[in-house]
Amino acid sequence: MMTFRPIALTLISAMGLALTSCSPGSTPDGEADTHMVQSVIPAERFFTADQFTYANHQEVIVSHADLDLDVNFNRKVLDGAVTLAFERLAPEAQTLTLDTKDLLIKAVALQTQDGWTPADYTLADADPVLGSAMTINIGSEASQLRIIYETSPSAEGLQWLSPAQTAGKEKPYLFSQAQAIHARTMLPIQDTPAVRLTYSANLRVPEGLLPLMSASQDGQSEDGSYSFSMPQPIPSYLIAIAVGDIKFKAINDTIGVYAEEYILDASAEEFAETPQMEVVNTALYGPYRWGRYDLIVLPPSFPYGGMENPRLSFMTPTLIAGDKSLTNVVAHELAHSWSGNLVTNSNWRDAWLNEGFTSYVENRVMEELYGERRAVMEQVLDMEGMKRAISEAKRPELTHLKLPDDMAHPDEAFTLVSYIKGANFLFFLEDRFGREKFDPFLRNWFNDYAFESVTTEDFLSFLHENLHKDNPDALTRAELDAWVYGPGLPDTARKPVSDAFDEVAGLSARWENGEISASGLPTKNWSTHEWLHFLNGLPELTRAQYKDLDDAFSLTGTQNAETAFAWYMQAIKGGYEAAYPALEEFLMTVGRGKFIYRLYGALKDNGQAEMANRIFAEAKAGYHPIAQRRISATLSE
Ligand code: BES
Ligand code: ZN
Repeated sequence: MMTFRPIALTLISAMGLALTSCSPGSTPDGEADTHMVQSVIPAERFFTADQFTYANHQEVIVSHADLDLDVNFNRKVLDGAVTLAFERLAPEAQTLTLDTKDLLIKAVALQTQDGWTPADYTLADADPVLGSAMTINIGSEASQLRIIYETSPSAEGLQWLSPAQTAGKEKPYLFSQAQAIHARTMLPIQDTPAVRLTYSANLRVPEGLLPLMSASQDGQSEDGSYSFSMPQPIPSYLIAIAVGDIKFKAINDTIGVYAEEYILDASAEEFAETPQMEVVNTALYGPYRWGRYDLIVLPPSFPYGGMENPRLSFMTPTLIAGDKSLTNVVAHELAHSWSGNLVTNSNWRDAWLNEGFTSYVENRVMEELYGERRAVMEQVLDMEGMKRAISEAKRPELTHLKLPDDMAHPDEAFTLVSYIKGANFLFFLEDRFGREKFDPFLRNWFNDYAFESVTTEDFLSFLHENLHKDNPDALTRAELDAWVYGPGLPDTARKPVSDAFDEVAGLSARWENGEISASGLPTKNWSTHEWLHFLNGLPELTRAQYKDLDDAFSLTGTQNAETAFAWYMQAIKGGYEAAYPALEEFLMTVGRGKFIYRLYGALKDNGQAEMANRIFAEAKAGYHPIAQRRISATLSE
């Protein structure tokens, strides 16, 4: 049996310091001082710099951003200034390099003894993914600078909707999406999760519109501007803004929902169990540290299911199913208040520390609130999705939890590998050590690293020090390595079994063989989960069989977005054309990436490229810039 080799935490921090000599403006390759490494684990596993930032954050860090912006819907720009407070980690540092993308920089000033004085700066040529490095001469005394700038109407992190694109049809709407590297299209910033900063903002918006941010909403001043403050240090990807004809409904004293009027009551009802989720999370993992927790239901072009912006999760309206069947996404975004927002991956290579932990916590909360039956069904559905993701991976390294250092875009880190292989690694640890030990261990992890940015290796050394050292027989180093640094799903993974799903599979087989008709399937008590398992498991059917199902259950045009998606995927696979008009309607009205990327991909792969291109040409203007880029790439591959 191989023994576990301890990783000294102090070593990791020492190497972090060893990197302070990186030159400004370069993308440091993160080669650490290898002579310090005692372990057989290669040095690059301890620390690599974030390849997706130009920031020289090992020398100077921005600790606060104060925004003062006009939200200009006519020109589709944020226009104003940001004042950055910074600290020199390297006392001799004379330059500060920030990330920017598609920003119009108008002026830069430094605060000196003589007041605000113009500062020298350069803006490098733009890289298509990373944008332009902005290097400012900060001299040796100043600790604040101000940049007058405006964003671009095509900023990838912002979607500007015309009144016609909203449900109310009368007022425009704006929302942001900064994760992973789009904050730099909203403001000049050190756009890496390794750096945490506090922020404040003053926003001016047209009359009748409400602005919100991922911060405490400090109200309106006499001049009509709205103030916000985020006193806890957060990574840049959690800076967020939404502006629109937005109304609020309380769920309890500290939790509520923002949405356009048409969906406000339904949203408050759908998310009514959020307070219980917070109670369960807190009981398991320690206090909720962010004050209020609100949700905002965005327009349907929001490209994600949810986004964990602190104090204010951004949610897709496709969750409003009417029966609380899709609330695991709320459990997920809320769970990020611990895993991700409190303890943050310091590099997108370690994205599983955010998403895997969160998917694990999400499932624990679902189990506590809705019982094991539902939690296990969700585990099985997730596992099926992950196996597909593993089989579709472009290269084996992208199925490691610790991702390679040459990803083309951080989006490559957000596959079901990070989410579900990550969650399953924690299920594995839970099973080996037992909940009575593992739960307090995780609680301590969130507590000890609160408001810090961490790596996979920090977690492994914490695991060793706090759990494995005293229980050495629970697992081997080789088993651990296979999970973190190896491809695919290790055979030590938990194998969830859902009796409910087994029953569905048995019935499905009988229907496929013609033993029973669709209307004879006992689906009355099926939950959305059972439907999803049934639909995802269908082989290619005859047209008559699709029609039999559709006639019995009216699947085409169903209002549950997850069920609709699963059905349309089958319809495309089998060429069931009767579903195409409803599929087209779905693609025209829903912008959630999880659904539309795969639907366009399936159309293309099943001989319907022409239809895909035609629909995309029409739908494109309504999609978020992030979705536009992804689908354009899929269709032109
Ligand atoms: N942080 C993610 C959303 C995200 C991922 C934004 C990658 C930018 C880049 C969020 O917490 C998330 O994971 N949302 C999921 C829901 C979840 C239940 C799997 C989604 O959008 O579907
Ligand atoms: Zn997440």
